[in-house]
Amino acid sequence: MKNVIIRKTEELENWRRNLRGEINFIPTMGNLHDGHKKLISTAKNSNFNINLVSIFINPLQFENKDDLEDYPKTIDNDIKIAFSNGADAIFIPSTIDIYPLNDKNIFYLKASEELSSALCGLRRPGHFDGVCTVVYRLLNLVKPKNLYLGEKDWQQLLILKNLIAVKKLNIDIKSIPTHRDFDGIPLSSRNIHLSKSERKLIRFFSNELFLAKKNFKIEKKINLKKIIKKLQSKKISIEYLEHLHPHTLQKARLEDNISLLAGAIRCGETRLIDHVFLMKRRPIIAIDGPAGSGKSTVTKLIAKKLKLLYLDTGAMYRALSWLMIKENIDYKKEKKLQNILK
Ligand code: PAF
Repeated sequence: MKNVIIRKTEELENWRRNLRGEINFIPTMGNLHDGHKKLISTAKNSNFNINLVSIFINPLQFENKDDLEDYPKTIDNDIKIAFSNGADAIFIPSTIDIYPLNDKNIFYLKASEELSSALCGLRRPGHFDGVCTVVYRLLNLVKPKNLYLGEKDWQQLLILKNLIAVKKLNIDIKSIPTHRDFDGIPLSSRNIHLSKSERKLIRFFSNELFLAKKNFKIEKKINLKKIIKKLQSKKISIEYLEHLHPHTLQKARLEDNISLLAGAIRCGETRLIDHVFLMKRRPIIAIDGPAGSGKSTVTKLIAKKLKLLYLDTGAMYRALSWLMIKENIDYKKEKKLQNILK
């Protein structure tokens, strides 16, 4: 397939109409880095769909005009990066194409209130409404099968998952884990604004999150005040540091096995976010499927690779059935069944 650059929504519609196959869609705001490369190449290597990358700096998701103006614009390089990492087409619309005046097809959306009343949502009013509005508009134009998003913006990922569910769109979200630089800091388009000393501070912040994750495995609890104090001792300006449930973004509860430790800091003019997942115990993975589909083989392999306990529940049921038949026990006699189970 010939690589194409599409600039107008009508051109996109024409291109789409002539396509044979489904679309993997990777929306971006440009200034592509290794994290984007990973999104594009993962999409390319996962299936035979057509890979479309969009580059559009969405004014609706910036609370502040200066921030919008300062957002890095590197379009020529972005085009090279996108094509050399697996994009088949790049959509580079202008603002008027995405938000034509008086167009009845543009829906200005509100992000889920529950999910946007935490973390960045509290500090960036309107930001997630802007993200939902642009992504919904792009999805309506592109009509993809799969949508690829980075987990670095975890709250954005949850909000867009919710949007797709609420709007009942038949689109699968494929999320890709945070891509980190050689020094452990998450890749972000805003990193180019960092001075050497600011970068050092971010490294300290990200390291602290990873240290907390390590300690959590042993202590099973988190001391936010202690971490905040440590960060403040390095003169790191903290916007928030919170311990939440990773899907509801409500405060983490004692009984939650998995939780999210997420923070935002400011370094000079730049604002950066990072997070880690905390787990109290190893995960429980249940595998189901029709008889003979290879459940046991796959489960054994996964258990071995992830060093998990392998529990063959099918064998447990069979063992019980075997014993009941052998002892001639009526399966309707619950009390007897319980005794034999012991
Ligand atoms: O994550 C981003 O780069 C943007 O928020 C997105 C999803 C491309 C919408 O403008």
